[in-house]
Amino acid sequence: MILLNSDKIHAHLADLNFKKPYELHCFPTIDSTNQFLNNLPTNQQLILCCAEEQTAGRGRFGRQWNSPFGENIYFSGRWRLAGHLKQLSGLSLVVGLAIIESVKKHTINEAILIKWPNDLFWQDKKLGGILIELNGELHGTIDITIGIGLNVNTSSTTSHLSDKPWCSLLDITGISFDRNALIADLIVILNHYLDQFLKLGFETFKSAWEKVDYLKNQWITVSNPNGKLSGYAQGVNEQGLLCLKDNQGTMHYVSAGEATLR
Ligand code: BTN
Repeated sequence: MILLNSDKIHAHLADLNFKKPYELHCFPTIDSTNQFLNNLPTNQQLILCCAEEQTAGRGRFGRQWNSPFGENIYFSGRWRLAGHLKQLSGLSLVVGLAIIESVKKHTINEAILIKWPNDLFWQDKKLGGILIELNGELHGTIDITIGIGLNVNTSSTTSHLSDKPWCSLLDITGISFDRNALIADLIVILNHYLDQFLKLGFETFKSAWEKVDYLKNQWITVSNPNGKLSGYAQGVNEQGLLCLKDNQGTMHYVSAGEATLR
């Protein structure tokens, strides 16, 4: 088992020519990397946090994110970005694309797909999830925490992380990964994608996203605080909103929620 090592992550980031000023916190154990960053009083542009284990790892909708020691990636980044809240539509899809791109750099060429809006899937099993939290918007800057849980070295044949079908990079490839290198790649690609996203909008990512759309043409139900809506998933529009065609042929555009397949 290769443990997390902040010196190694710094060195990888230097090798990758990462120029943005940042602060990195690497913990053996923490309640939640997202919570840690949210609690920091900060004016920093970028603060990063990863941990070997989370004792209160958080998923979406108040769920728990199982985070055993030394095996997977529990990573969060708090970005202060120039922009406005209304520009964030489609953000989770862009984060998903950044995760796929960084995993590909480690010669994983399997079809990893994004289940709108926040989940990474491989062969109908969840590989990872994204939890984005907004800390505030002030004077044209947005302060967000992006949390990523990626199952890396936990084997689904010997461990139990979730009651729902799940998998890890180890399951996919049969190989154990050095999480330090993966995290460094993720930071660089994610930072680059975020810059591009704020400058040019979701539109520039749309065609890449269509290639990894897990729900495409499936009959799904989306639940959110407004209720439930069922229809055929027809990809996303230029704003990253899910296009859902109901039985009457009416198209609905959905910004958030949880999708379940029939
Ligand atoms: C989900 O699929 O429900 C989202 C899971 C997000 C988990 C990550 S692990 C790192 C960060 N810290 C947390 O407490 N949660 C996110």
